[in-house]
Amino acid sequence: MFALSSHLSDTRERRPFGVTNLTMLDRIQRLAKEIAPRLIEIRRHIHSHPELSGHEYQTATYVAGVLSSCGVQVREGVGKTGVIGELGTHQQPRVAIRTDMDALPITERTGLPFASRNPGVMHACGHDVHTTLGLGTAMVLSQFLDELPGAVRFIFQPAEEIAQGAHWMVAEGAMAEVDAIFGVHVFPSIPSPIVGVRYGALTAAADDLELTITGESGHGARPYEAVDAIWIAAQVITTLQQAISRTHNPLRPVVLTIGKIQGGRAPNAIADSVQLLGTVRSLHPETHRELPDWIENIVAGVCKTYGAGYEMNYRRLVPSVFNDTALTQIVESTVRQAWGETGMQLLMEPSLGAEDFSVYLDHAPGTMFRLGVGHANQRNYALHHPQFDIDEKAIMTGVITLAYSAWQYLSRWQTD
Ligand code: NI
Repeated sequence: MFALSSHLSDTRERRPFGVTNLTMLDRIQRLAKEIAPRLIEIRRHIHSHPELSGHEYQTATYVAGVLSSCGVQVREGVGKTGVIGELGTHQQPRVAIRTDMDALPITERTGLPFASRNPGVMHACGHDVHTTLGLGTAMVLSQFLDELPGAVRFIFQPAEEIAQGAHWMVAEGAMAEVDAIFGVHVFPSIPSPIVGVRYGALTAAADDLELTITGESGHGARPYEAVDAIWIAAQVITTLQQAISRTHNPLRPVVLTIGKIQGGRAPNAIADSVQLLGTVRSLHPETHRELPDWIENIVAGVCKTYGAGYEMNYRRLVPSVFNDTALTQIVESTVRQAWGETGMQLLMEPSLGAEDFSVYLDHAPGTMFRLGVGHANQRNYALHHPQFDIDEKAIMTGVITLAYSAWQYLSRWQTD
């Protein structure tokens, strides 16, 4: 636990900005620069104390302490180990900023002086940075509380890596009365301090598929007296893969992978049951909605043709992160105003990975940007790599982007 640095209390006393005609962006940038050393300390502290999904106890306590020390109202134990901070006296508009706090079961090999002190656990996905960005944004915006044209909710989420935390937070009211939400993920293949902005789909929806095809067993020499579940399972797989290319709009891609198949008892016996397990990825929300029925129609058709039965369980894990256009424009405008053309990279392709930020988007429009954290002159390891590391300059960029985007959203809402 720590008290808020002297940087902040000094700023509060001096209030150097109110008497000048600096723009809000200038004021946010100056303040972010001032607290940057403190943010790096915070990030290193969190980095050296990583905790696994659903076990973010120390991190949550630490987060709650920082939030309280800058006058943010704190609720702890939301969604198990999540923390919610509320800033602002107005009820509306309310903008949320979501950051995730969990680490991965990976042994760190960065050799950094502030490397993980928790053996076998590492912040290899940069959620230590995200948590710091949420805290930094709270520190900055709390300095402008009197002028804040709305409310800001800080959502510090647990368990993103197991795609559970957002569900837990939403179930306990994290999105109640939220009008818009911003999120961020670090990205090592974008150089620091560039911000990656993407319109539309950023990540894929991920679902689980479980299918059981039921036939009738019989002697391997007389298949016509039985119903061969293995052959029918093969037909189901082939038909599904062909139908994707023939009946889905290729601009709204679907990837269906059957990763496990199990069935049969003996080489000379017809199998009466085959189980198929798979993952289904898609980018467009409409496609995602239609997929379970589409898959079931094909399975049912093939099974009916050859006299088999089936049972299908389709489990939606997370939807696609589909960035709202107006909110993405706000992020783009923030980045352009702050750093000009060269500060931004327009992302041309989405990722087929999954991210549970999408769960919040069922409740309010939102956008997630990618914060470039790549070092200029050294190898940048991928997310989830034991040597993953970031350029800490990006922390300031992330805080400015979040704080000024939130500010712009709240100000624009008022004048609409
Ligand atoms: Ni991550």
